Amino acid sequence: MVSPLPASIDATERLLADNGYVAPRALSTVTFLSLKLGRPLFLEGEAGTGKTEIAKTLATALGRRLIRLQCYEGLDAASAVAEWNFAAQMIAIRAEATHRADLFTEEFLIERPLLAAMRPQDGGPPVLLIDEVDRTDEPFEAFLLEALSDYQVTIPELGTIRAPEAPIVLLTSNRTREVHDALKRRCLYHWVDYPDAARELDILNARAPGLAPALSREVVAFVQKLRMEDLFKKPGVAETLDWAKCLLALDVLTLSPEVIADTLGAILKYQDDIQRIQGSEARRLLEDIRKELSP
Ligand SMILES: Nc1ncnc2c1ncn2[C@@H]1O[C@H](COP(=O)(O)OP(=O)(O)OP(=O)(O)O)[C@@H](O)[C@H]1O
Ligand SMILES: [Mg+2]
Repeated sequence: MVSPLPASIDATERLLADNGYVAPRALSTVTFLSLKLGRPLFLEGEAGTGKTEIAKTLATALGRRLIRLQCYEGLDAASAVAEWNFAAQMIAIRAEATHRADLFTEEFLIERPLLAAMRPQDGGPPVLLIDEVDRTDEPFEAFLLEALSDYQVTIPELGTIRAPEAPIVLLTSNRTREVHDALKRRCLYHWVDYPDAARELDILNARAPGLAPALSREVVAFVQKLRMEDLFKKPGVAETLDWAKCLLALDVLTLSPEVIADTLGAILKYQDDIQRIQGSEARRLLEDIRKELSP
């Protein structure tokens, strides 16, 4: 079902919450502004903090098609916009069914995400997610800048295709390198941080219902403590949710050093980090959170 764009920050927060996304005020504000002004939203932050998820949630909530351009090193304009279906062209030539002049027509075009996002869609402009833009290189960034400035793409053999209405654009970055200022300037920017304990508990309740309330509080408190440790890779919200699901599957009712040792691989993904936390350190953290949580 197609929904109208939210009319206020509160309405944006509610729209996201109704679809299982718990957004802090600052993120709801920048999302509302991005929708209202038709400006791309650039989300940067640690891994597993909900950057990709907000685009998915917005598409569902607004009843729009989600078009995702997953960035990677070496991604070029052709793979992002459109490619010619050489095999089909060859077959057409062999069968002599097509005149040579007709080989470079829409019929032989394989649409990729950026072109798809410029096409009119049932239900209004799509949500275009340009995910992990920091993985591409500068020439591709420059190309993106052009595409996002006028919401148009050019295919040399066909010409320029312009979006009748601007898509809703979200870009994400894990900041493995700085994205160029020129691209950021086109966008509204927001740093997505780890949630505080109260919000993480809300996320857990929304995304992993079924976990006993006391255990949910322990899980959140433990993960929040872990993030203060000197770790190579801190756990994101994704890891908190994974851990909760593991505990649920094991019918765990309360955390213990043994349970933590058995399931640490759900929250820490580096052996050095696991070794650091396992055993006495886990016991100490657990004692700390028990003290904090006891009334
Ligand atoms: N605020 C939130 N509300 C609801 N779910 C959330 C929230 N933040 C994170 N999540 C959950 O955490 C998981 C990871 O989120 P997501 O994939 O969006 O992270 P990311 O920031 O894109 O990470 P990466 O940088 O690794 O791609 C998702 O399954 C999502 O459901
Ligand atoms: Mg992501």
